[in-house]
This record gives sequence, C-alpha cells and structure tokens, in this order.
Amino acid sequence: MDVLGFCTQTRSMEYMTPKPVYDNIVLIGFMGSGKTSVGKVLARKLYKKFMDVDTLIEAEQNSSVNDIFQNKKEEHFRVLEQKCINELTQNTGQVIATGGGLPIYSSISKKSLIVYINADFDVILERLTTKERDKRPLLQNESEARALFEERKHIYEEQADFSVDANQSIPTFIHVIVDYILDQRVL
Ligand code: S3P
Repeated sequence: MDVLGFCTQTRSMEYMTPKPVYDNIVLIGFMGSGKTSVGKVLARKLYKKFMDVDTLIEAEQNSSVNDIFQNKKEEHFRVLEQKCINELTQNTGQVIATGGGLPIYSSISKKSLIVYINADFDVILERLTTKERDKRPLLQNESEARALFEERKHIYEEQADFSVDANQSIPTFIHVIVDYILDQRVL
C-alpha cells in the first residue's frame, strides 16, 4: 500500500482547498443605500443565494414593514429582525441584504463578511423615488432621517469588514466589492 503517497496527496489537497473563513456575505447600510439591488447582482456574480431580511419578514408576517411598524410597533419589528438574521446565518453561501436598522439593534454572526454600502445621505435621497420613500416609515421626516443617518454611520463603519464608496452608480462600484470578496475565503 502506498501509505506515504496517500498521506502526501491528502495533505496537499487540504492545502489547496482551505477552510472558508466566512459563511455568508452580509450587506449593511442606511435605508435606500442600494443593499437589495447590490445584493442581487453580487449573488448572481458570485453564484450565491440572495436573501433579503425585510422581504423574508414581510412574507412570514404577511404584512408590509410599514404595517408592522404601525400595528405592532418598531420594537416588535426589531425582534423579528434578530430572529430572521439568526436563522439565516445558520446556513452558508448566501448574500444577505439587511434593513438599515438591523446592525444597530441586532447582532450578526461573527462568521459573516460584513460589507458596508457607504453612500452619503443626499445621494440616498436623490436615488429614492417617492414610492420608495413611502415604504420606509423612518424616512418620512427628512431632518429626523438625516439625524438618524449621522447617529448610525459610525456604527456601520465599526461593524464592517469592508466599506465601499457607494456614491457612484451600482455597476461602477460593484466590481470593487467583487474583487474584495474574491480575495477573501468566503464559502
Ligand atoms: C429600517 C430600514 C428599512 C426597514 C425598516 C427600518 C431602518 O430597510 O428595515 O423600514 O431602521 O433603517 P431598508 O434599509 O432596506 O430601507
């Protein structure tokens, strides 16, 4: 039996396929910064599954985010967010788009590569249609939303493994994220 040859081959194969460091890619950032649009493209380019926390909550509750905020209050929505991200991160190989408040109120598994979609408040406002703004209860009053943005942006920065300048169009900056991710060992 070629014991030596077998051992050498096994060891070199292990070396060639290192264990991934991260289970999932999690996108964070302020409301309307483009997490969902970016996430869909990223998932397609990287052959990952795309998951969107707000969409999953809405489907599970059979209710819009707006209605959950109105009928069950924000605190309840935050509980649903934590539950949803906990469940999602039990799985691997996904690009997960979060709601803007998720990293503020919930903890995200340490095995996630956290990417901050870092767009300025004025760029976000310009990008959003009235319909898109109306869907977001915390974006109804512009000065309050601006204050929330200022309050939160350092938390996004602290939590992120990687921050991308998202003030340009999505196709312009998406390759920056793809290059970064391909350099990491993400399942
Ligand atoms: C929120 C952001 C929203 C949604 C909810 C609360 C927030 O998601 O989860 O309206 O607290 O920033 P988007 O970031 O996709 O707009």
